[in-house]
Amino acid sequence: MKARIAVLPGDGIGPEVTAAAVSVLRHVAAHYGHEFEFSEQAIGGCAIDACGDPLPAETLIVCKQADAVLLGAVGGPQWSDPKAKVRPEQGLLRLRAELGVYANLRPVRVQARLAELSPLKNERLAGVDLLFVRELTGGAYFGVKTRSADTATDETRYTTAEIERVLRRAFQLARTRGRRVTSVDKANVLETSRLWRETAQRVAHEFPDVALEHQLVDSMAMLLLTRPAAYDVIVTENLFGDILTDEAAALAGSLGLLPSASLGEGTRGLYEPIHGSAPDIAGRGIANPLGAILSAALLLRHSLGLSTEAAAIEQAVDRVVDAGVLTRDLGGSAGTREATAAVIAALAERGNTQEAA
Ligand code: NAD
Ligand code: IPM
Ligand code: MN
Repeated sequence: MKARIAVLPGDGIGPEVTAAAVSVLRHVAAHYGHEFEFSEQAIGGCAIDACGDPLPAETLIVCKQADAVLLGAVGGPQWSDPKAKVRPEQGLLRLRAELGVYANLRPVRVQARLAELSPLKNERLAGVDLLFVRELTGGAYFGVKTRSADTATDETRYTTAEIERVLRRAFQLARTRGRRVTSVDKANVLETSRLWRETAQRVAHEFPDVALEHQLVDSMAMLLLTRPAAYDVIVTENLFGDILTDEAAALAGSLGLLPSASLGEGTRGLYEPIHGSAPDIAGRGIANPLGAILSAALLLRHSLGLSTEAAAIEQAVDRVVDAGVLTRDLGGSAGTREATAAVIAALAERGNTQEAA
């Protein structure tokens, strides 16, 4: 198949991990007979430096014309002055809003080999297989902000329609997995959470074959560490989802491992690892590329319908981890390129075995 993929490397380790993901996609294209056309565009801090805008018009046009968008990360200390008028993160938020990608899927699996890296006891990690569905284009991120000398506000606003569509997506995804949805809110305090809970209860009637439970976000933060294997699909608002998924990365062993897919109504999606630009390790060739590579797998599955190729990448990543080719965040000594080359070698090996069979 032919596909147009917009590539937005961004800042810090963004370019390093994005190059890794693109090289895996190039291998997949050559091996499975697809034609992927990549168009690299600026976003974030480097775009501010180049033209004063963290989401240049040209970048947005290319993204809207693409079948999928692959993004590295944005931000860094040089653009983080609290008084700055324009910030790299604004570019990413605008891109998510412009693409209408309201459902952010963040799968979390724990590989046996990495369980020992988690601060949790191994037995608690057995069978952990979570899918977070984070609402991505509403809530405190997009509400009205005000600021005077000594007062600041961030409005949290949700409409029923915004809640319904992301809940429906979570229920639909639950049907492809364990048929359980945990909806996370703060309904004991927040009005938006009470609307969220009411709406979740109503949407649940459309999915009688899926079980719904509610959890308050503070206790969910604890339950995620005490009984992570007890959950299947976890759906929540934008800010809670941001925080809980970084917490969940500790189950998997490193923030560098977790991919994400952001989807709206059509098939076009935005794919990015959940980690940031990691300024502390940027430019040293040691970033873990697996979160970005697994995001490329999600791109193949959700935007291009190439589920065989997506699964092949995921299995190749598993084999590389099992073989102990690990970056430093996972206790190994492999560099970004070495880890990426190992994934491509594992893909090639599997392809040849299948052809021989
Ligand atoms: P971060 O995710 O960049 O880093 C947190 C810690 O995890 C650091 O110690 C870092 O070295 C480590 N880490 C992250 N990704 C890694 C990888 N692939 N391999 C190895 N180690 C990795 O979070 P932060 O330091 O709080 O934020 C830095 C900047 O990134 C901020 O400007 C923030 O706004 C931005 N950010 C961007 C995105 C995004 O673009 N999607 C996401 C999160 C944070
Ligand atoms: C993420 C990031 C972003 C978010 C920032 C960089 C705007 O932390 O993708 O998780 O909070 O959504
Ligand atoms: Mn985050």
